[in-house]
Amino acid sequence: MSRLIVVSNRVADLEKGAQSGGLAVALGDALKKEHGLWFGWDGNILGNGGRLATNLREQEGVTFATTPLTREEYDNYYLGFSNNVLWPAFHYRIDLTNFETSFVQGYRKVNQRLAQALAPLVEKEDRVWVHDYHLIPLAAELRARGVEGPIGFFLHIPFPPPEILQTIPEHDWLIRSLFSCDVVGFQTQGDRRNFVRYVVERAGGKEDGEGRLTAFGKTIIVQSYPIGIDAQVFRDMATSEQSDELIQRLHRRSFERSLVIGVDRLDYTKGLPERLKAFRRLLELYPENRRQATLLQIAPPTREEVEAYSEIREELEGLTGAINGAFGNFDWTPVRYIHRAIPRDTLAALFRGSQVGLVTPLRDGMNLVAKEYVAAQDEEDPGVLVLSEFAGAAEDLVEALLVNPYDIDDMAAALQRALTMSLEERQSRHAALKKRVWARDVNQWRERFLGDLVADAA
Ligand code: G6P
Repeated sequence: MSRLIVVSNRVADLEKGAQSGGLAVALGDALKKEHGLWFGWDGNILGNGGRLATNLREQEGVTFATTPLTREEYDNYYLGFSNNVLWPAFHYRIDLTNFETSFVQGYRKVNQRLAQALAPLVEKEDRVWVHDYHLIPLAAELRARGVEGPIGFFLHIPFPPPEILQTIPEHDWLIRSLFSCDVVGFQTQGDRRNFVRYVVERAGGKEDGEGRLTAFGKTIIVQSYPIGIDAQVFRDMATSEQSDELIQRLHRRSFERSLVIGVDRLDYTKGLPERLKAFRRLLELYPENRRQATLLQIAPPTREEVEAYSEIREELEGLTGAINGAFGNFDWTPVRYIHRAIPRDTLAALFRGSQVGLVTPLRDGMNLVAKEYVAAQDEEDPGVLVLSEFAGAAEDLVEALLVNPYDIDDMAAALQRALTMSLEERQSRHAALKKRVWARDVNQWRERFLGDLVADAA
């Protein structure tokens, strides 16, 4: 019987259930049905004397095959090529890329080692679904080791225009590797167009108008599959009894003040300094918000060993302190900043209890916080989503207040508009957004991708 094999850098823990997020649950569900396999890094760096073996374990009918990384692999493959080259460049930040030859060598070697470990576990009928930028060359390495069945690749982050991609040494090798797949998926039409442009303009590729692209002697499906959330599960979390209590506490504490919420990993792509500047501008231009509006920014730490991340943290803390010092009072703190991860059910309640959801990345693959904010709202009295036009989600969530995150005044004006929007307008925008979030949820994302992978193989 054909099984599904999911490959990703991080591997989820199914025991955490809904707490681990919609994507992990959706993939976990598909794997459970088919007694599938999830393969990837176990999150550990090998200590001295440790063995670089693949560890197999079973959980709820799913086999987990994981391996640690050596310190050198972690430095070159994960921190180096993945997070100092691909991550910034794919988010259009070539100013933040650091390229060293050892990075790409380490990246290639880890992909080879992972393919070497995975290939013997793949049976003839299995479908392999590879995820994200850490593993772009994996399909080619699996083919080189005799894997012949369907392989799909989905990129969770943006795909840049060819002029930017070209700045990455070895870009031609990366793109050619993707043609070892049968299906290559992107978050948005814009990302897909960038990929097609590269292949057509620089590799003599041909598009057939029906989602197929021919280059390097192969024809593959190239489509956009916008990822979603498990909308109903998130909504249930936001409306539980526990959530109601938390929301009441929130309102009692803040004396009916307006809460504006932002939740992002502390990443330079998320536009956090710009967001704080916009909040400051709101207080300057529309003083009626002083002592009334509070920005709650939750920004858990991430990839702290990469320099650009420690810099953004310092900048953010400086801006927060400056706003609170200039505007705060003994009974009002304008910005509350939490540099820790918060459980998902608490987030769901906080989203429901906030008048504005502020999602303003400078560039983002999709941004599921935007969809979660919509899912958590009370239909009778919904909050307003302020969304960056550079988040993948903006291609679909057009009834949000769309802003340019580089334009601080534009963001301040949108915040003011959100805080003063009539109930009627809030309801009609929310109803439209809700439909979209439910229509494109994580399960239909998975089924569409896997449907194409199977159809192509048939
Ligand atoms: C983004 C990437 C994921 C990654 C996650 C957390 O969402 O698309 O692949 O796992 O960030 O980053 P980390 O480096 O901690 O895995």
